[in-house]
Amino acid sequence: MSGLQLRQPLRTQRPPLQVLLMSGCPEGAISRLGGPGPLPSLIEKPFMIDGILPTWGISSARGSRMRETRFQAARLLIVDDEPSNVRALERLLRAAGYTNIVGTTNPAEVLSLYRDQDLMLLDLRMPELDGVGVLEQLRADAPPQMFLPVLVLTGDSSQDARRRALAAGAKDFVTKPFEVDEVLLRIHNLLETRYLYREITAQNQVLERRVSERTVELDSAYLDTLERLALAAEFRDDETGRHTERVGEAAALLGTVLGLGAEEVFLIRRAAPLHDVGKIAIPDAVLRKPGSLTADEWEIMKSHAAMGAQILSGGRSRVIRLAEEIARSHHEQWDGNGYPEGRSGEAIPLTARLVMVADVFDALTSDRVYRKAWPAAHVLAYIREYAGRRFDPQIAGLCERIETRRGLLAIRQGAGASAERRRTVSTTTMARNRTPRQPPAVGP
Ligand SMILES: [Fe+2]
Ligand SMILES: [Fe+2]
Repeated sequence: MSGLQLRQPLRTQRPPLQVLLMSGCPEGAISRLGGPGPLPSLIEKPFMIDGILPTWGISSARGSRMRETRFQAARLLIVDDEPSNVRALERLLRAAGYTNIVGTTNPAEVLSLYRDQDLMLLDLRMPELDGVGVLEQLRADAPPQMFLPVLVLTGDSSQDARRRALAAGAKDFVTKPFEVDEVLLRIHNLLETRYLYREITAQNQVLERRVSERTVELDSAYLDTLERLALAAEFRDDETGRHTERVGEAAALLGTVLGLGAEEVFLIRRAAPLHDVGKIAIPDAVLRKPGSLTADEWEIMKSHAAMGAQILSGGRSRVIRLAEEIARSHHEQWDGNGYPEGRSGEAIPLTARLVMVADVFDALTSDRVYRKAWPAAHVLAYIREYAGRRFDPQIAGLCERIETRRGLLAIRQGAGASAERRRTVSTTTMARNRTPRQPPAVGP
């Protein structure tokens, strides 16, 4: 059936359907074939888009320009199953000054195209997947923080179509035939919202980055303060100046081999150096006494554990709370013969049991004024011998593993120390003696 033949039944439609003939034949030839009745409007091919737009109710795109050139590079996606509609819209938008336009007649392609776009122009009535279906797919697929405005362009002017499209996430709605100026105005308004949203998102990201930088700064200042506190206690008692740091590293190593999580290991590494912070409260006459301690002096010395817990008590952060339990219990022994509370077995916090082994390993492999450092192999044999008496047998058992031994030796040799904590400490002998020394003195 030719287009002219099809015209006859269409003329009887109520309301009458407007018919526009498009043909490569000249008008005279058409009128001879046309039969009775007036000839409908004819567009001779090839035609310019501006020539046919007014017949579709679309005014010429000429003279209709975008209102702000900043939107020139806005990325626009046209989705319409009718290729001629996609082409017409694309030409219209290009004529208005937009340069970044993608069109598709396949709505199934939207999911692979929408992420880079600033605005989508969407037809509603399409076979297989209609505009509402596209909007629903977008809603399910798009990340929650994404804002892609959708302008629905459709010949369906019913209230129901409008309601469904807006409910599915369309931001605006225009019915065909439309005025070019109105469409361009609506596109402009949606792009304005889109660009504003992008600016706010970028500003929020900058703010979030600043807050996170400040948080990192505060965290590092806080952890720095803890290190200084550990140093304050250490300076009075340790001629090497790096014992507390190594105990932190060694306890973290043992925790890792034991299978603790990364966060817990991090906290142990930071909290363990404070194990002897209570020594701040021990008078020099006792702490730095060159000779043997009397029984009373020994009691004072032992009080550093409870003192340390007291200094650290009431902390709100996890690292301080861990440091408190380590300070209180790092001299408790598995068999209950330790101090200050005589706890035994698993009643001693795990962190303190880890620090006990780390502390003894480091102390015995270090020179003291009252004895020379032991070879590491002897210290490890000592830990094995006192497993289940002084030390948690499971943690003592970890020291039998080759990777633990290597790690402990590396820490002992300084490989585990952080560069910023390397410092020169006066090696002036702070002669001390400890009593009793059974088992071997490793310092209180
Ligand atoms: Fe220690
Ligand atoms: Fe101690």
